[in-house]
Amino acid sequence: MSTHHLLDIQSLSTQDIEFLLQRASALKRGAAPRRLNGAIANLFLEPSTRTRVSFELAAKCLALDVVNIEATHSSVSKGESVLDSARTVSAMGVRALVVRQSVAGGVHDLVVGLDDWPVALINAGDGVNQHPSQALLDAALLHDRGLDWSRLRLAIIGDINHSRVARSSIELYRRLGVHEIRLAGPTEWLPNELSAHNVHCVHSVDEAIREVDVVIALRIQRERMQGQPGLDDAAFHATWGLTEARFAQLAEHVLVMHPGPINRGVELAGIVADHARSLILQQVQMGVFMRTAIFEWLLPD
Ligand code: CP
Repeated sequence: MSTHHLLDIQSLSTQDIEFLLQRASALKRGAAPRRLNGAIANLFLEPSTRTRVSFELAAKCLALDVVNIEATHSSVSKGESVLDSARTVSAMGVRALVVRQSVAGGVHDLVVGLDDWPVALINAGDGVNQHPSQALLDAALLHDRGLDWSRLRLAIIGDINHSRVARSSIELYRRLGVHEIRLAGPTEWLPNELSAHNVHCVHSVDEAIREVDVVIALRIQRERMQGQPGLDDAAFHATWGLTEARFAQLAEHVLVMHPGPINRGVELAGIVADHARSLILQQVQMGVFMRTAIFEWLLPD
């Protein structure tokens, strides 16, 4: 049997997506995780708190051993290529390699480079390209709350173009048949072309959030903007942020999401982040359940 990987949303079948959303929700509601043998490795060459820790906790829920490898303490810092590091760790017998790195498509390249080595690769964020487990956990949370995709209107605001979360989420929500996805942010951070009838760019946050059900705020990805002029946080907040005043205009049922890490007073006001209708910490909680479901899905007994 060939080894399965989680590289992006596009490669998932509808059945895969349904399984992962339902399984994460079932785990959240108390279903027992399977018991798996062996070890997985987290190879994180970019910073992370929630993704790395939740993959580790998920693996431990399944009785898997976990090794954590970070750039500064790995032989990548001595010039070893990421592929040679991945090969080295795989040769020690890990069953899955969770990889975060800065090159778009870099995890796909590792799959090619590892050839048919029996290790499952999980993309934990590759540059501006994809962050499939984040998109899946966010959708699992909305699924768990019983929201109807065919009636749901979402706004995604902020730095869309540099966001791998946005790229994976737009694809996932489009696949799930979400009624409408509105994107808003500075013109240079908005996609030029959108291939789906239910995804639209709009020109202000107020337009984006009018009569939506969920507002997803995104962090400015400053680490991906070398050479571009600096942005003024206060001006960004006033023009593109989910301010306290904008939040007050929303209907009582509207939920706020953010994949994190958050910058209070920039993409959203601190009071909004801490509000009862903010799902930010529930997203983090669902992250452990979704990543447990992902290991169960990828790793045979
Ligand atoms: N959302 C997300 O990827 O967060 P971390 O960078 O903390 O993993």
